[in-house]
Amino acid sequence: MEQQAANLQSLSYSRCIDISKRVRWDIESDVIRGRHFDMTKKFLPDGISKVNGFEFLSSEEKRFLSQVQGRTYANMFGFVERFIVAKILELTSNHWLGDQVALKAMVRFCDEEIKHQELFRKIDEMMAEVMPPGYQFLFNPDEVAAAVLSKSTWSVMALILEIELFTREHYMKSMEPDEEMSDLYKDIFLFHWKEETTHAMIDELEWPLIDKKLSPEERDRAVGDVIDLVTDVDGILKAQSASDVDYFIEHVGGERPLAEDQRERLKTGVHQAYRWQYILSGVGHPRFVSMLNALTTEEQKQRLTGALSTLL
Ligand SMILES: [Fe+2]
Ligand SMILES: [Fe+2]
Repeated sequence: MEQQAANLQSLSYSRCIDISKRVRWDIESDVIRGRHFDMTKKFLPDGISKVNGFEFLSSEEKRFLSQVQGRTYANMFGFVERFIVAKILELTSNHWLGDQVALKAMVRFCDEEIKHQELFRKIDEMMAEVMPPGYQFLFNPDEVAAAVLSKSTWSVMALILEIELFTREHYMKSMEPDEEMSDLYKDIFLFHWKEETTHAMIDELEWPLIDKKLSPEERDRAVGDVIDLVTDVDGILKAQSASDVDYFIEHVGGERPLAEDQRERLKTGVHQAYRWQYILSGVGHPRFVSMLNALTTEEQKQRLTGALSTLL
């Protein structure tokens, strides 16, 4: 029975390798292809940026806000991928002397994420060439990764899975149907999610393996760690959204100063949009919910739901 389960596991990792080989791309020759960002086009689509909630902004201003958010969206991926690679590399040690197919799938996963970070650094530089000066991404990926990695592996896997699930969701539901987006921006996230497909599958294989090794007390503490991680991520989103709104206001304010209540609405609204982008759209994903249902008790789920409801 156990051998059968092990064979099935190995088959799933082997499927990940096949998919990963099929979708693999190159930054320059497949994604960028000599193109540049066009400031007459939106970066993030409305379904993700939620800019339509700001009825006091003109369509040009909404477009600029989608570009500011789009730059942060790309930077956020480059930034979370730092701790994702570190954690997955750490987990490969469970397969060093065992399932070599699993090991190969996870090495490819890490190689892809290192390439994604390179892509996101590159596009931040490309955006800096066409956007007004003053934009800031506030957080250092190594410092945040060190803080995340100090939490239990179970909780870090929860965070990683929710992130890797929303990449496809955001593309398919909001980017793919949006015809006013920058073609280059859209392509970046099309290629990105294709390589993320196998990452979410590997997370779904690895998280239960970690879970099996925990005592009920350790799992209970890990649930607390998930809540701490979500609170920390929300702190990052609050600071970054405030910085993005300041930058936005500085560059539209010259033409038409915004009223105090409009500035406040921008701060709250962009923070709320970021909460949806990086936390709520991932934890609400059906595959995340079903994994959580399999790994937690009713009481633990209530605790998590209670903590998440404060973000709404
Ligand atoms: Fe990635
Ligand atoms: Fe990934």
